[in-house]
Amino acid sequence: MDILVTGGAGYIGSHTTIELVNEGHNVVIVDNLSNSNKLVIDRIEEITGKSVTSYFIDLLNKDELDKVFKNNHIDAVIHFAGFKAVGESVALPLKYYSNNLVSTLNLCEVMEENDVYNLIFSSSATVYGKPESFPIKETFSTKAYNPYGRSKLIIEEILMDLSHSNEKWNITLLRYFNPVGAHASGEIGEDPNGTPNNLMPYITQVAVGKLQELNVFGDDYDTVDGTGVRDYIHVVDLAKGHLKALENIEANDRLEIVNLGTGEGYSVKQVIEAFQEASGQHINYKIVDRRPGDVATSYADPTKAYEKLGWKAEKDINDMCRDSWNWQQKNPNGYEEK
Ligand code: NAD
Ligand code: UD1
Repeated sequence: MDILVTGGAGYIGSHTTIELVNEGHNVVIVDNLSNSNKLVIDRIEEITGKSVTSYFIDLLNKDELDKVFKNNHIDAVIHFAGFKAVGESVALPLKYYSNNLVSTLNLCEVMEENDVYNLIFSSSATVYGKPESFPIKETFSTKAYNPYGRSKLIIEEILMDLSHSNEKWNITLLRYFNPVGAHASGEIGEDPNGTPNNLMPYITQVAVGKLQELNVFGDDYDTVDGTGVRDYIHVVDLAKGHLKALENIEANDRLEIVNLGTGEGYSVKQVIEAFQEASGQHINYKIVDRRPGDVATSYADPTKAYEKLGWKAEKDINDMCRDSWNWQQKNPNGYEEK
């Protein structure tokens, strides 16, 4: 198939592009490089041995986007592009609403105008807010606690309306749990700007000596050891979930919502231990206050992904830690050229 990947130079988009190309799909990337680097495209091409058409344009520019559709045959779109930093979204809500919402509206309008109706959207487990029971099923109620999460929820609702408006639309909303890890080559991985907000990149930067110690946000939660529990999923497994969603997109109902997680929760302390074992590196850490907005526990019920898409995660926490460490060791400064 001919697939347009928005945000294809980003963390999840680049890993998904590799899996798509390896499966024989033809990929066109659109990315404004606001949170990524051109070098990613070179690395994708090195890893796959194939060239990938890339447009470094902004989805906010509808005319430029339309040209991409006019100049390329597109069967389906995987829409990763968007801003994702929760803390920044609280400080700069308009930046998040205008980028995440307007880019999605532009994309859907241009898709309709060009008769392309297959869309996979990157949503997040953050839309479940503070669930009362576990594992989390797609049928659970949703609630946003910050502008980033609200932008995901609003987009989900817009896409639901769109799917009701015209039976041609086939839309899959994928709700990711906590993506970590990197491609086995160690050539592409997660490259956060500044000090990482998320656990795994923080741990790898402590391990490589860029940061001194990890702050563990609270050890008084009602969990196995008091630290927060999450469903970490290897980014390559996550990428493969998109291929399965693509294969099934036309057979599915007009709109499907699917969790992508492993179904297993690990506490912060368990992740530190697994990382130490996989890397042979000692991680200094200290317990600090809870991070405002954090939930104690989050893990998926991935049954629907298996039943509807025939997908399940294959990699375990050891694979995730090993591959995150491999990427960090090979690229201590991320994509920054030496
Ligand atoms: P990322 O920041 O690495 O990738 C997003 C890409 O989109 C970047 O390359 C950025 O340059 C590009 N982009 C942003 N705005 C754009 C615009 N207006 N026009 C063109 N390109 C634009 O993020 P990621 O981790 O790969 O996440 C991909 C998607 O998955 C995002 O929508 C994110 O919200 C969602 N998601 C991510 C996580 C996670 O933990 N990484 C979890 C749940 C959901
Ligand atoms: C964060 C986002 C969430 C987003 C998800 C995936 C917040 C509040 N939530 O979720 O919206 O969908 O990433 O990108 O930012 N931790 C530490 N020390 C650290 C970093 C994290 O102890 O330096 C702990 C956290 O308290 C949590 C766990 O590690 O228990 C995972 O944190 P993180 O990687 O930031 O992911 P989430 O909090 O699940």
